[in-house]
Amino acid sequence: MEHFNIIQALCRSALTNPSDAIIHQVERLKEALEKDGHKKEAKSLSVLLNSVNKTFDMAPSRIQRSFSGLKGEELTYKTPIPVDKETATPLAEIIFPNDLPSEPPLFSANVEMAIESILNEWRNFDKLSNIEAHPSRSCLVYGAPGTGKTHLALWIARQLNIPVVLARLDGLMSSFLGTTSRNIGNLFSFASKYQCILLLDEFDAIAKLRNDPQEVGEIKRVVNTLLQNLDSRKELGFTIGVTNHESLLDPAIWRRFEVQIEIPKPSYEVMATLISKKLSPLELEENEIKFLSWSIEGASGADAEMLVKWLKKAYVLNSENSIVDLLRKFAILNTGRIELKKRNILVHSDEELTHALLDDNRFSFKQKDIAQLLGVTPSSLSKQLSKIKETEKINYGE
Ligand SMILES: Nc1ncnc2c1ncn2[C@@H]1O[C@H](COP(=O)(O)OP(=O)(O)OP(=O)(O)O)[C@@H](O)[C@H]1O
Ligand SMILES: [Mg+2]
Repeated sequence: MEHFNIIQALCRSALTNPSDAIIHQVERLKEALEKDGHKKEAKSLSVLLNSVNKTFDMAPSRIQRSFSGLKGEELTYKTPIPVDKETATPLAEIIFPNDLPSEPPLFSANVEMAIESILNEWRNFDKLSNIEAHPSRSCLVYGAPGTGKTHLALWIARQLNIPVVLARLDGLMSSFLGTTSRNIGNLFSFASKYQCILLLDEFDAIAKLRNDPQEVGEIKRVVNTLLQNLDSRKELGFTIGVTNHESLLDPAIWRRFEVQIEIPKPSYEVMATLISKKLSPLELEENEIKFLSWSIEGASGADAEMLVKWLKKAYVLNSENSIVDLLRKFAILNTGRIELKKRNILVHSDEELTHALLDDNRFSFKQKDIAQLLGVTPSSLSKQLSKIKETEKINYGE
């Protein structure tokens, strides 16, 4: 066939950077050649296409096969994302399974059990379909800031191998009348067209409109749009809403979610596991981890993450310091992360800290543990404590 070598070269260079459209056109050409009896030429295009498909499948940018239980088209890196018509900012971000967190967030056993049950429903999609049941399709995750809510939603998607369409609701708000509702509508139609988890992060942003008396009409419109869209997505996909301020959510919106999970701040046991996991490859004694979780009690997982990041640096740069000394520095530099009461105990004196630790029955610190934390020998700590007792006796005239 005349000039086929040029056509073949053209196809080869186009396929070095293949898009779905290019592959489609080369396939069309191959079929047309086949139909016209140019078997040899069609075969050579077949070889080209096969080699492209192989590298395309292996490239890290290529998404894994999505979960079969969801309706819609498969999202690809080329899928155009809808934008705000006024500002041209994308209404969402697409995150493919390979880019989602693979480390599970750590919660108490009860919360983990609840999450596992949602995952289990999705993993058994077909079994449930056989009895005309379906997994929970909408889930509201709420709780204090920094407790791992967004991380959890993304990790769920990773577990189910489904890409996430992540929209921060405040990003959809527009100062132009009617545009917020239009953005919400466009976002939902986009999410419902593809196999994905729609993650509505910072879900309470809508409630902020309420504080503005001039926005009464607009908020009604926006809430109605949200309700309608949540309703029509009910049968189509999986939606996760995430919020810090669940009380600000309209009760009608709240009711739309089949499952609602409260993420509490970590208990000290969870905090200890969280700290030792995040510290890796640095390894601390069990005693030291216990002390860290005592110090940061009441803080969030995000605070624990900050503490660990800081400690890793401090360990390398100030290796001669005891863990108590390091934590004192951290407490002064992070007044918002360590409760005032604990901060005062920490920075005041070794004696006060020793007593506070010994008196906290939940942690069962022994005197020898505390000596190790302070970087002194047990006998010198015990001498120090008895000296203080003596002074107190004299002061109080016992
Ligand atoms: N329970 C946890 N287990 C593991 N990591 C956690 C946990 N809580 C927080 N983190 C870590 O802290 C950081 C912040 O978490 P994330 O953004 O998920 O919190 P959030 O609850 O969504 O916070 P916000 O309410 O501010 O949006 C992340 O790096 C996350 O991995
Ligand atoms: Mg978040």
